[in-house]
Amino acid sequence: MKIKNICCIGAGYVGGPTMAVIAQKCPEINVTVVDINENRIAAWNDEDVNNIPIYEPGLSEIVAEARDRNLFFSTDVDEAIDKADMIFISVNTPTKTYGIGKGMAADLKFIELCARQIARVAKSDKIVVEKSTLPVRTAQALKNILENTGNGVNFQILSNPEFLAEGTAVDDLLNPDRVLIGGDIDSTEGKEAVSSLVEIYANWIPKERILTTNVWSSELSKLTANAFLAQRVSSINAMSELCEKTGADVNEVAKAVGMDSRIGSKFLKSSVGFGGSCFQKDILNLVYISKSLGLNEVADYWEQVILMNDHQKRRFAANIVKTLFNTVSGKKIGVLGWAFKKDTNDTRESAAIYVTDYLLNEQAEITVYDPKVKAEQVYADLDYLNSRPEEENRKRVKVVNSPYEAGDKAHAVAVLTEWDEFVELNWDDIYKNMLKPAFLFDGRRLLDRKEKEKIGFEFYAIGN
Ligand code: NAD
Ligand code: UDX
Repeated sequence: MKIKNICCIGAGYVGGPTMAVIAQKCPEINVTVVDINENRIAAWNDEDVNNIPIYEPGLSEIVAEARDRNLFFSTDVDEAIDKADMIFISVNTPTKTYGIGKGMAADLKFIELCARQIARVAKSDKIVVEKSTLPVRTAQALKNILENTGNGVNFQILSNPEFLAEGTAVDDLLNPDRVLIGGDIDSTEGKEAVSSLVEIYANWIPKERILTTNVWSSELSKLTANAFLAQRVSSINAMSELCEKTGADVNEVAKAVGMDSRIGSKFLKSSVGFGGSCFQKDILNLVYISKSLGLNEVADYWEQVILMNDHQKRRFAANIVKTLFNTVSGKKIGVLGWAFKKDTNDTRESAAIYVTDYLLNEQAEITVYDPKVKAEQVYADLDYLNSRPEEENRKRVKVVNSPYEAGDKAHAVAVLTEWDEFVELNWDDIYKNMLKPAFLFDGRRLLDRKEKEKIGFEFYAIGN
């Protein structure tokens, strides 16, 4: 079946960029991205394409090219479902904050709402594609809802997890290592559904990179990939602590180890801890699934990746306190970078939030600079932790528009996101305006130790 109309439910970090690229590469397909968040849709439709709600290098150009040609953003979810031959579900699947599985299981309420809405609205056969990251066997639940509450129409369910990383989303979508499509490959209808999605991607991706599997393998592969990636970061971060105690340098260790072709060099960059909306949530989900199946050793194994990450964030913050003569009370500390990695405005689970919270508990005064994150987001992130009254967060944390302001009269500066611009700063000027001794903490191994020590900084870097 040749797909003519696509609907994507969820206009977030995944739905927006993936659909923009499909629309750009398949001008003959109409793509409508819908969301219940009116502000988000209004921002996607903003006349000035630089105001789209998600910052990703190269994304605004693609949106400018395809928007209102064959790419549309709307809040009319019913209409888009009705028209579509293929519906991508790209809604959020956060960790549950209540009830059974609280703090671990994925909250599937948004997914279920989508399924019920599709079942209610659909009058013609649809292919429903799981784009969100889901626990293995979610497709079974979707099938039950769709088949038992629908209008007698036929639904095929595919799993097509997204592997893009934020900050490089456009490149990852244009040139992915692989695209994974899981479907009911034992039935003719299932095979047809799989091939209609393969045909869409084949417009720009070589067929040998489009992998088809059964639904369960596809669902589980996504959780597995994120668990493996996060595990590499926790592994190198574990070594960073050992390096600091022994005189080894974690960058040198990572290089030496990564040149072994069996290990590979990627994802071995030691840091203040991984963040982002996916790693922690997906591993917790994996731990929960394993526990539910009675696989306690499997659950414990993966949980350690999270425990190590929490430890890394905490020990970075604790080291700041210890180094500043065991107290940061009333001391100004400049935080450079709030996003969870460079080239994104996303702050979900960013290490900066937890390091700042720790320092605020020690009564520090914090000044934050991030090139892409707005002040209201910084406050929302801190308020969400519920560690202190909201007024206190506003009183003790200032968000400024320049990195130099963040360093002005500060006892210490901490680099928490690896934004390129931080390398190029006039560090002499920052040093001059700081209190002495001027402490500089590099949570990203971004800065050159010798240069900074020559300026006069007391310099501390992860794993060195
Ligand atoms: P997001 O929060 O940025 O976007 C989700 C959007 O869905 C929100 O705008 C929300 O308003 C909307 N939504 C929720 N329920 C809805 C409903 N019933 N009807 C219409 N809209 C609804 O989330 P995201 O980062 O895009 O992630 C989406 C999914 O993709 C998650 O499962 C995530 O694990 C997965 N994923 C994310 C990334 C990433 O880098 N962010 C990468 C791969 C996979
Ligand atoms: C991740 C997965 O990489 C992606 O495939 C999936 O689709 C979504 O989750 P994302 O969270 O956007 O993507 O970014 P990623 O590049 O994986 O970085 C995650 C975190 O790990 C960031 O905080 C990053 O700074 C940190 N990281 C990554 C390290 O500390 N060291 C590394 O070597 C790599």
